[in-house]
Amino acid sequence: MNRIIKTVSLFVATTLLAQAQTPNPIKVNVAQPVSEIQPTMWGIFFEDINLGADGGIYAELVKNRSFEFQKPLMGWKIERKTFHEGEVLIQNRADKNTANPRFVSVKVENAQKGDLGLTNEGFRGMGIKNGLRYDFSVMYRQSGSPVKVHAELLDAKGQVIGEGTLTPSQTDGQWHRQAVSFNAKATEAKGKLRLWFEGNGQIDLDMISLFPEDTWKGRPGGMRADMIQKLADLKPGFIRFPGGCIVEGFDLNNRYQWKKTIGPIEERQLIMNRWNIEFAHRPAPDYFQTFGLGFFEYLQLAEDIGSEALPILNCGMACQFNSAEVVPMDQLEPYVQDALDLIEFANGDINTTWGKVRAQMGHPAPFNLKMMGVGNENWGPQYIERLKVFTKAIKAKYPNFKLINSSGTDPNGDRFDYLNKELRAMNADFIDEHYYRAPEWFLKNAGRYDSYDRNGSKVFAGEYASHTNNGASASNRNTWRAALSEAAFMTGLERNAAVVQMASYAPLFAHVDGWQWNPDLIWVDNLQSFGTPSYYVQQLYSLNRGTHVLSMTQNNQPLIGQDSLYASASWDKASNEIILKIANNNSQAQVREIQLDGVKKLDPNAKLIVMQSDPNSVNTFEEALKVSPSEKKIVVNAKTKKVSLELAPYSFYVVRIKTL
Ligand code: AHR
Repeated sequence: MNRIIKTVSLFVATTLLAQAQTPNPIKVNVAQPVSEIQPTMWGIFFEDINLGADGGIYAELVKNRSFEFQKPLMGWKIERKTFHEGEVLIQNRADKNTANPRFVSVKVENAQKGDLGLTNEGFRGMGIKNGLRYDFSVMYRQSGSPVKVHAELLDAKGQVIGEGTLTPSQTDGQWHRQAVSFNAKATEAKGKLRLWFEGNGQIDLDMISLFPEDTWKGRPGGMRADMIQKLADLKPGFIRFPGGCIVEGFDLNNRYQWKKTIGPIEERQLIMNRWNIEFAHRPAPDYFQTFGLGFFEYLQLAEDIGSEALPILNCGMACQFNSAEVVPMDQLEPYVQDALDLIEFANGDINTTWGKVRAQMGHPAPFNLKMMGVGNENWGPQYIERLKVFTKAIKAKYPNFKLINSSGTDPNGDRFDYLNKELRAMNADFIDEHYYRAPEWFLKNAGRYDSYDRNGSKVFAGEYASHTNNGASASNRNTWRAALSEAAFMTGLERNAAVVQMASYAPLFAHVDGWQWNPDLIWVDNLQSFGTPSYYVQQLYSLNRGTHVLSMTQNNQPLIGQDSLYASASWDKASNEIILKIANNNSQAQVREIQLDGVKKLDPNAKLIVMQSDPNSVNTFEEALKVSPSEKKIVVNAKTKKVSLELAPYSFYVVRIKTL
C-alpha cells in the first residue's frame, strides 16, 4: 500500500514539475485580426545634428562655401608664397543681397600657380574616392584680364590626387557660374581642396563648391548615396524632417524657416545650426545650416524612397531649454501662413503661388503631403494657445490634413500629463511622444500602450532611443543590449498599432568626428557608413510589418516581460503570411511552443530571422555586420499548427509563416 502511495506521489510530483518546466504554449489568434497596421508605422527621423545634413547627406565637400559663417574664412586657409596685404579680402554686399551677402575677392599680380591660394579643409576633411569624377564650380565676377583658378584635390599629406583648371569665360563685371570636372587618382578620407590663382587682376568668388559624381540618383549637387541608400534599405513608412530642435532654434531668429530653404541655392540664407553651441562638451563652432538641402529636397527624398513626408514646423516658440522665446499671439500670423503655404507648395496646382515655385524647381506634380507637425518639443499653455490658432486655420482650409502635436520632451511628468489631457480634449490627430531612456525603461514599458484609449488621439512615437548611459554623452553606446530593449519595446508598439500609428528612432545619423548626440542609428565617416544593432532592429520591423495585428498571448496575457520575453504578431494580407516577433532578454536560452489558432493550412517551411549577440556587442566600420540579422529555415508542424522555437540568450526573432 505504502509503495502504491509512494509511486502515485512520485508520479504527481514529476507531472507537476514537468508542468512547471514546460510553459504553456504561446497562442496566436490568426482568425481574428485585432486592428490594422498603417503603412506609416515604422519611419525615420531626420535632423541636421551630428553633421547629418551639412557634412552628411548633403554631398557638398566645401565647408563655408559662401563665406557666410560667423568667421568668414572659417574652414579656409590662405596660402601665400610672398605676402602682399589685401590680396584676399572678404566683401559684403548686404545692401543688394541679404541672403548671401559675403564673397571673397582675390587680387593677383603676375601670379603663377603656387603663388597665392586658398585651401578648404572640408567637413572634418573631404572623402575622396579613386577614379571618381569631382565637379568643381564657382560663382565668379571679374572685369579685367581673366584670372585662372587651378583646383587641386589633396590627400592628408598634401599630395595632389586630382586637378582641374577653371578659366572664367566672362569679364563683364557680372556674376556667372562656371564649372570644371576632373577625376581623383587616389582614395583619401581626409582630403582637402586647394585653389591656386594665376594671372593679373581681380576675381570675386562665391559659392565655391565641390561635389562627387556618385550622388544619390546621380543628381548634380545632390545627396551622399551610401547614406541615402541606408535609409532606402529601411523602406521607411515616413520621413520626419527637418528635426528636432533645429525646428525651434536657439531663439526665434534661429528657427527653421522653410521658405528660406527653397529656390536657387545661392539665395538660401545660411544660419547657425543650434547644435553649434548646444553642448559645452561637444562644441561645433563650424556647424551652420547652408540649406543646400532644403524642403524641396526633403520632399523629393521622401518621394524617392517611397515614404510619406512629415515636415515639422515652428509653432511660434523657440527651444524652451535655450531662449524660451515666444512670438506674441498678435504676431503669430506669419508662422501660421508659413504652414498653409507649405501645404500649397507641396500639393498646390502649378497655378497657385507656391505650387508654381515647386514646378519651377522641377516638380510640377504635387508631392501629396498629408500631414505636418506643429511644434517640436514644445510644452505648456503657451504651446496649446498657439497650436489652437494653427489647427483652426489649417483645418479650415484642409479638413483632412493630419496634424502632429507635441507632448513635450518626456513621456511622463506634469508637463506630459498637462499636454496629454489638453491635446486629447482638442481631439488631436496625433500626439508626438519622445523617450530617450535607459534599456530598463523600454523593457518595463513594453505594455505602455495596452491601456491607451483606442478611440482617441493616435500616438506618434516620434523620437526614441535606448540610452545605456544617462544623457546624450560619449559613454552611451549603440550596444546590442540597447537595441534588444528597443526590439522588446517595439512589440508593444506593434501590438498597439490601433493607437500607435507612427514611430521613429532618433537621431538618425552621426559623423564619427562631428557628433553632438550619442547614440544614433547610423554612423558615418567621410567615406563609409554602418548601421548599428538598432538600425537592424528598425529594419526588421519595417521589412516585416504586416498589415494587421494578431493577438499573441501566453496564459491569456500579452508577453510584456514574463520570463524576459516580449512578443507580438501580425498578418500580412498581401503575402498571406503570419509574422511573429519575439525578443528574449534572458541570459538563458528558452524554448517556447507557439500555437497558431484559427488557420486552415500552413506551409511547413517557414522563415526564421534572428539577431543574437553578447549584450555589449557593437557594430564598427571594421565589423559593420557583427550584430545583424541572419536567416534560417524552420519547420512548422502543419498538422498541429505548432512551431517550436529555441530562443537563444539575448536574442530577437522574426518568424514568417505562409498560410495556404
Ligand atoms: O534627437 C535629438 C534631439 O532630441 C532632438 O533634436 C530633439 O527633438 C530631442 O530633444
